[in-house]
Amino acid sequence: MIIAPSLLAADFGQLAKDALRASKSGAQWLHLDIMDGHFVPNISFGPHVVKTLRPLSKMFFDVHLMCSKPEILLEPFARAGADQIILHVELGDAVGPLIWKIRALGKKVGLAVNPPTNIALVQPYLDQIDLLLVMTVNPGFGGQSFIYECLPKIQQASAWRREKRLRYRVEVDGGINNQTVAECARAGADTFVAGTALFGQRNMKAAVAKLAKCAAANQPTLAYPKN
Ligand code: DX5
Ligand code: ZN
Repeated sequence: MIIAPSLLAADFGQLAKDALRASKSGAQWLHLDIMDGHFVPNISFGPHVVKTLRPLSKMFFDVHLMCSKPEILLEPFARAGADQIILHVELGDAVGPLIWKIRALGKKVGLAVNPPTNIALVQPYLDQIDLLLVMTVNPGFGGQSFIYECLPKIQQASAWRREKRLRYRVEVDGGINNQTVAECARAGADTFVAGTALFGQRNMKAAVAKLAKCAAANQPTLAYPKN
């Protein structure tokens, strides 16, 4: 199971300091939300910031692209130090070629699905991805409330993985806290993004440990992949 603090909830006046805080928190991944002001109504940061943070941490950089034109950003983020790049299935026909491009850059591939989008749209890509991200808020902003209607999609993502004997991770993102993490774990998620619930705490290490404990206590015994 993996906990991924979302840097969007950090203090942008001291990003490096907060990235270090995440790095020392015991969490394995750092989730980096990239917003272009078009795919979502907000702008966050770009490859230069990721490049600046890269030498500060050995964490796995989980780059979530909420962008209308990811094709112009894949190479810059790959060079900046992304370990995985997540695209949105809402991009339609562009998704297939973009997956191949990320692979060609030697990076892991994630595919995200927004709350209003039918989960069936991800089906053709399931054997080509390392991670399926079920958004549990409408993307664009941190600090929103978890949308409970997304839980059946997590169950579906997990059921497909079992039935098709695939190994993609099931990640959830948005409104994750000690209560909602338990619901997501029960539904089959194994990778948990949390911004406000972690960066908002003075003791981030304790917050990560508590979140992981709440998730682990609710994971189905046959959850897989196994870490
Ligand atoms: C939302 C982002 C999330 C966000 C989560 O658009 O994709 O990663 O940072 O923030 P919290 O955990 O505060 O809901
Ligand atoms: Zn995200």
